[in-house]
Amino acid sequence: MAKTVLVTGSSGLIGSEVCAFFAAQGFAVHGVDNNQRAVFFGPQGDTRWNQQRLLTTLKGFRHHELDIRDRHGVLALVKELKPGLIVHTAAQPSHDRAAAIPFDDFDTNAVGTLNFLEAARQACPESPFVHMSTNKVYGDAPNRIPLVELETRWDYADPAYANGIPETFTIDQSTHSLFGASKVASDVLAQEYGRYFKMPTCCLRGGCLTGPHHSGVELHGFLSYLVKCNLEGREFKIFGYKGKQVRDNIHSYDVARFIFEFYSAPRCGEVYNLGGGKRNSCSVLEAFKLSEKFSGRPMKYTYADQNRIGDHLCYYSDLRKMRTHYPKWALTKSLEQTVQEIVEAWQKRK
Ligand SMILES: NC(=O)c1ccc[n+]([C@@H]2O[C@H](COP(=O)([O-])OP(=O)(O)OC[C@H]3O[C@@H](n4cnc5c(N)ncnc54)[C@H](O)[C@@H]3O)[C@@H](O)[C@H]2O)c1
Repeated sequence: MAKTVLVTGSSGLIGSEVCAFFAAQGFAVHGVDNNQRAVFFGPQGDTRWNQQRLLTTLKGFRHHELDIRDRHGVLALVKELKPGLIVHTAAQPSHDRAAAIPFDDFDTNAVGTLNFLEAARQACPESPFVHMSTNKVYGDAPNRIPLVELETRWDYADPAYANGIPETFTIDQSTHSLFGASKVASDVLAQEYGRYFKMPTCCLRGGCLTGPHHSGVELHGFLSYLVKCNLEGREFKIFGYKGKQVRDNIHSYDVARFIFEFYSAPRCGEVYNLGGGKRNSCSVLEAFKLSEKFSGRPMKYTYADQNRIGDHLCYYSDLRKMRTHYPKWALTKSLEQTVQEIVEAWQKRK
C-alpha cells in the first residue's frame, strides 16, 4: 500500500510543492485547504488555480475542503487517514495583515496547529510532523546586530553572524507583530509535542520561501509580488530602510527536499532555520535588478520612509545545523534561477 502524506495548506506555495514532491515519490497525497488565502488577501490571493493544477497533474491527489480551525473535522480526518507524514503549511502568513484580524490570525496559526498536533498524537504519534514556522519568531531582535551599510544592501558587521542567524537566537523580548506571536505559539507547541510526547516533530523557521506557484500579494510573498508588479508595470512600494533590507530566498522545491530528508530520518522536537542563506540573499534594490534582467522591463517603484513595524533590516539564515543533521541536503536552486522561474510562471499564468 502506498504511504500517505497529509499536507495542510496544499493549494499554497509550500503545500503544493510538497504535494507534487511526495506524489513523485509514490505517496498517496491528501491536501487540506479552503482557499482562506483569498479571504485574507482578496482575489489576488486566490489559490483555487493551484488546487486545480494539483487535481489535474497529480495522480491520486485528494483535496479536502476543510478549515484547520474546525477541530472535530481535523480530528476525524487524521483518525481516518492515519498518515505516515503530516506537513503543516496552512497559515495566516502575513506580518501586517494580522493586526487587522487578530482572532483569525491566532485561531488559524496557533489553534489550527494545536488541532493537527493533537490529532496526530491521538491517531499517528509515530508519524513525522513538519511544522512550517517563520523567522518572525525572532521578532525584530536581529535588528540589534550592528550592521554595515553597503551600496545596495545592509549586512551584519558582527563576525559572529557571518553565516547568518542561528537557531539559538533569542525569540524573547522583541517586537514580533501579532503574526510573529501566533507563530511563536505554534512553534513552541510543535516543539513541545516533540519533547513532552516524544513525537517526531520539527519546526522549519522560514526566511523568504518563494517559487513559481506563489499567489504573491503586497502583504505576503515578496519576490512573487515584486516580479508581478514588474511584469504588469505597476509600482512596487518600498517601506523604509532605503530599499536595502535583506531577505534570504529559498525555492519551495528545496524546502520540499528538506522535508523529505527529515521524513527519512526524523528527530524529536527539532528546530531549523530554513532559508536561502547568505548565498541566496538579496536586498529589495537587488531584487529589482534581477527581475528586470529576466523580464526585460524596467521596475517602477515608490519609496515611503516609514518601515513596516518590526521588519528585519537584514536577515539571512545560518544553514549549518540543517547541513550537519542532514548532510545529503543542500540548496539546488540559485536565486537567479528562482527569479527566472517566477518571471516565467507569471508570464504563463497571465
Ligand atoms: N512564504 C514565505 O515567505 C514564508 C516565510 C516564512 C514562513 N512561512 C510559512 O510557511 C507556511 C506556508 O507559507 P506559504 O507561503 O506557502 O503560504 P500560502 O498562503 O501560499 O499557503 C497557505 C495555504 O493555507 C491555506 N489556509 C490558510 N488558512 C487556512 C485554514 N484556516 N484552513 C485551511 N486552509 C487554510 C491558504 O488558503 C493557502 O492556500 C506558512 O506557515 C507560513 O507562515 C512562509
